[in-house]
Amino acid sequence: MRRPPWSTDGDACGGFSFLLTALVVLSSAATAQDGAPPSKIAVVGAGIGGSATAHFLRQHFGPEVQLDVYEKGQVGGRLATVTVNNNQYEAGGSVVHALNMHMQDFVKQLGLAYRRGVSGKTAVFDGTEVIAEESDWYLLDLLRLWWRYGTSFIRVHMWLEEVMEKFMRIYKYQAHGYAFTSVEELVDSLGGSGFLNMTRRPLSDSLLELGVSQRFIDEVIAPIIRLNYGQNVSIPAFVGAVSLASAHSNLWAVEGGNKRVCEGLLKAANANLVNAHVTAVRPLHTDGAPQYQLLLAGEEEATPAGAYDAVVLATPLQGSGVSFLDFTPAVEPAAGTYHGTVATVVHGYLNTSLFGFPDPRLFPYAGVLTTEAPALFFNSVASVYPVSVSPGFRRKGAHEAAVYKVFSPEVLTKEQLKTLFRSYYSVQATEWQAYPRYGSAAGAALPPVELRPHLYYLNGVEWAGSAMEMSAVAAKNIALLVYHRWNNQSHKVDHKDLMHRIKTEL
Ligand SMILES: Cc1cc2nc3c(=O)[nH]c(=O)nc-3n(C[C@H](O)[C@H](O)[C@H](O)COP(=O)(O)OP(=O)(O)OC[C@H]3O[C@@H](n4cnc5c(N)ncnc54)[C@H](O)[C@@H]3O)c2cc1C
Ligand SMILES: *[C@@H]1O[C@H](CO)[C@@H](O)[C@H](O)[C@H]1NC(C)=O
Ligand SMILES: *[C@@H]1O[C@H](CO)[C@@H](O)[C@H](O)[C@H]1NC(C)=O
Ligand SMILES: *[C@@H]1O[C@H](CO)[C@@H](O)[C@H](O)[C@H]1NC(C)=O
Ligand SMILES: *[C@@H]1O[C@H](CO)[C@@H](O)[C@H](O)[C@H]1NC(C)=O
Repeated sequence: MRRPPWSTDGDACGGFSFLLTALVVLSSAATAQDGAPPSKIAVVGAGIGGSATAHFLRQHFGPEVQLDVYEKGQVGGRLATVTVNNNQYEAGGSVVHALNMHMQDFVKQLGLAYRRGVSGKTAVFDGTEVIAEESDWYLLDLLRLWWRYGTSFIRVHMWLEEVMEKFMRIYKYQAHGYAFTSVEELVDSLGGSGFLNMTRRPLSDSLLELGVSQRFIDEVIAPIIRLNYGQNVSIPAFVGAVSLASAHSNLWAVEGGNKRVCEGLLKAANANLVNAHVTAVRPLHTDGAPQYQLLLAGEEEATPAGAYDAVVLATPLQGSGVSFLDFTPAVEPAAGTYHGTVATVVHGYLNTSLFGFPDPRLFPYAGVLTTEAPALFFNSVASVYPVSVSPGFRRKGAHEAAVYKVFSPEVLTKEQLKTLFRSYYSVQATEWQAYPRYGSAAGAALPPVELRPHLYYLNGVEWAGSAMEMSAVAAKNIALLVYHRWNNQSHKVDHKDLMHRIKTEL
């Protein structure tokens, strides 16, 4: 198998230990280049996107380059926990799909452990009654769904298999070192115009065209989209598939909390974590390759941080407070807005009467999703388990005090809390600018990754799909792009017809 010398990351090395991988990288990185490596690179944001970028940059460039990661809040970003009774619970991104290869590699390389789910049934509530439920037993599940929804279930299942199979091509492309300068190019390389069309048309249209029934869309698809993205079935089909895939496989999380991946990656990358709010990026006018400075909050008059040979913006530009100074032509501001979702962690007694179960002992569900019923003030409520599950852990019944997570578009009022819970001990709400508001960008082109030479933007990928793995894929893409641009290897960038190319390379 022919492979470029720098492609020594987890994808290529499979089960190698992190240390071994790092050693291989150091030796190859040192010999791979004609010119010197960059001396300083800045990453803005220490969520999974920024920390994975730092990790991949270190792999590609070796030990010499200085990696500064700027973070205005907590490492982890949208991966964060809240504490109830000395136990931590995920308040942001919580579950990972079985086929999310980068996330899996991180967990393996960092020596972290998987946390598997604790089984429990999910129901769908329409504001009046429970209209659908998922069973513990998959076969029974299929039969029941078949009876109620005809062939819709199987049609969606097959569609998702096809989308996932094409999506998985990204790992092969990245293992071979190919990178893309825009999210549009990346999506196109995976699934051609079929995939691009899926980023521009509503999920409901795509499903109806497949022959999926309106009833299945209303009662099964819409509740899952409400759970994952707080929005309706008019979101683009591509992000819809990302969302449905998550409802459709073995899911896992990281023992001790997902944010531990970010902490581990930054450490393994030997990055300098700078606790500062970046307010602007500014080009430095030099004779050679362009360089950039960063301005930091409270230090406008002081010396700006820089000069960086490359800058990676690994935060949604919407709401980040980062502006672009002295660029000609000006860098366009990011289009679209983010959708607010509130995650409320409640320790208390669920009001099962609300769902038609006056006796909480008879309430069989661990979670309840909701349809687009007009009067509902919450998207979902589910009993949750801590980030570290002891061997004897069991999910509590609804007649016991338990910890629940509620997703809602607005902060819950006291009235609403009292409707949903018979009583409670504690309430902790986290207000997220959670993911793109997909309706607002319908028809728009997907964002660029390369904003200017050596200036990159990671979070545009969220307009194709917002998930931990999407940020990890974008991080690997950017690290490759930084590397190729630095080394003038344009044949590895935006290559057309990659599927064919890679077949012949193998
Ligand atoms: C409630 C909720 C549930 C979710 N559930 C899931 C799930 O189950 N599975 C899944 O895969 N995904 C889920 N997601 C999505 C997932 O959490 C995100 O896609 C992912 O964490 C984004 O990571 P990121 O690093 O790209 O961005 P972020 O995590 O947002 O990181 C950006 C970082 O940049 C910092 N920053 C911003 N501006 C500046 C500045 N000017 N200067 C310095 N630092 C700055 C921020 O403080 C932040 O730490 C969920 C998201 C939410 C909100
Ligand atoms: C890439 O090209 C630029 C401009 O031509 C040159 O200055 C630089 O040294 C080249 N880098 C490498 C690694 O060859
Ligand atoms: C994508 O949409 C365009 C324009 O509507 C159409 O011509 C093309 O056939 C579509 N591609 C696929 C694969 O469906
Ligand atoms: C629980 O739900 C029922 C049915 O909607 C409602 O009548 C009641 O007020 C709610 N609250 C409590 C504390 O039971
Ligand atoms: C779905 O949401 C969009 C905007 O987010 C809205 O314009 C549209 O009317 C909604 N559709 C339905 C069927 O509720």
